[in-house]
Amino acid sequence: MTDQSSNQMWGGRFAAGPDAIMEAINASIGFDKRMAAQDIAGSRAHAAMLAAAGVITDNDAEAIREGLLTVLSEIEGGTFQFSTALEDIHMNVEARLKEIIGEPAGRLHTGRSRNDQVATDFKLWVRDQLDAAESGLLALIRALLSQAEAGADWVMPGFTHLQTAQPVTWGHHMMAYVEMFGRDLSRVRDARARMNESPLGAAALAGTSFPIDREMTAKALGFDRPAANSLDAVSDRDFALEFLSVASISAVHLSRFAEELVIWSSAQFRFVTLSDRFSTGSSIMPQKKNPDAAELIRAKVGRIFGANTALMMVMKGLPLAYSKDMQEDKEQVFDAADNWMLALAAMEGMVKDMTGNRESLAAAAGSGFSTATDLADWMVRVLKVPFRDAHHVTGTLVAMAESRGCDLPDLSLADMQGVHEGITDDIFSVLGVENSVNSRMSYGGTAPAQVRAQVARWREILAG
Ligand code: ARG
Repeated sequence: MTDQSSNQMWGGRFAAGPDAIMEAINASIGFDKRMAAQDIAGSRAHAAMLAAAGVITDNDAEAIREGLLTVLSEIEGGTFQFSTALEDIHMNVEARLKEIIGEPAGRLHTGRSRNDQVATDFKLWVRDQLDAAESGLLALIRALLSQAEAGADWVMPGFTHLQTAQPVTWGHHMMAYVEMFGRDLSRVRDARARMNESPLGAAALAGTSFPIDREMTAKALGFDRPAANSLDAVSDRDFALEFLSVASISAVHLSRFAEELVIWSSAQFRFVTLSDRFSTGSSIMPQKKNPDAAELIRAKVGRIFGANTALMMVMKGLPLAYSKDMQEDKEQVFDAADNWMLALAAMEGMVKDMTGNRESLAAAAGSGFSTATDLADWMVRVLKVPFRDAHHVTGTLVAMAESRGCDLPDLSLADMQGVHEGITDDIFSVLGVENSVNSRMSYGGTAPAQVRAQVARWREILAG
């Protein structure tokens, strides 16, 4: 005799129901209910295919379709009673379908298994997130392009080692991030194209003896084709790992930009003013305006990369095909997706609202001997001095300016000629930061004309 409390899906083999602790460790409904819409879409496609293949009657398929729509509206309306005893979203939906339509519900699970079902649902969910990430990245790129266009010729210091290196333009700096987020965008698109194969119909692991049409369900769910190996189809979580890898790299980019905004918005730098809408105040220090959004974006990479590492470790030793370990995939991906989307949206908002402080940027651009390279290049170009020698002369002049507490353009011609007699008045034309950035016309360089060309190129890419 079967115990009344044993599971209605597999109670036939079981004499007793699970221990409460077993139920607690086994259940995923607490989180996989987020895949309800995908689960129902998958079941609808499967039922329609079963009818077309003659495996179930059209009447049963119609009852299943109607019933699933009712279940969906109950879930969306918040009246659905989720049950931990029913373990996961797949069994919760099916059990409720049985309550609503009775016997035909029992025919839905013909020629499939929860193994291909969960892989299908999860893929559909991840695919939606890749689409959301694509929109988020595009919006952020557009915001950066506007900043780059507005400040294509604003001069600012460029850094290496966070030491003043050479003057660059605000637009050039913004466009560096456009390139980074542009690569994220292309990774998102690659990942989507690679993952878009349907696991549905792989059944438990070996395929099925029913005459199913996997092309039909693949097409109905927007997949490019059915996955070609049923063992692989149910055990593959590459799409989740790839999602997390792409998200991790993008989160690193977000974090690096966030770090720059934290530095730039400080009183010591004043390169940028963040809007009130994306800052917070201090409860004790009235003067403060904190870049909290930037700081939180900087921190998000921790949990996103953590999710990536966690799922890598879950998957690394699993034999084919499905193992229950794989149920641990979803919370990692859900959390990473939520936080990646939030970080993208917050960064877009911050970039849209922020004001570059043109005067502070310009004042900082000229300090720190930022045009020393221009001086050396001038000697090479005009005096035909070997670069290594020009570097040495320039170093001597920088040391002289440093000891006098002035900048390079403040040295007199006589001072300079004392170090190298060939130097002429013309040298002062390259010591200005505007001249410096204007001269860097090599492809991808910081000259405003180059920046504008890159903005135009990106606008064309986005329009196409
Ligand atoms: N809740 C499970 C998961 O998320 C669904 C698949 C269960 N399959 C099984 N054979 N127990 O992975």
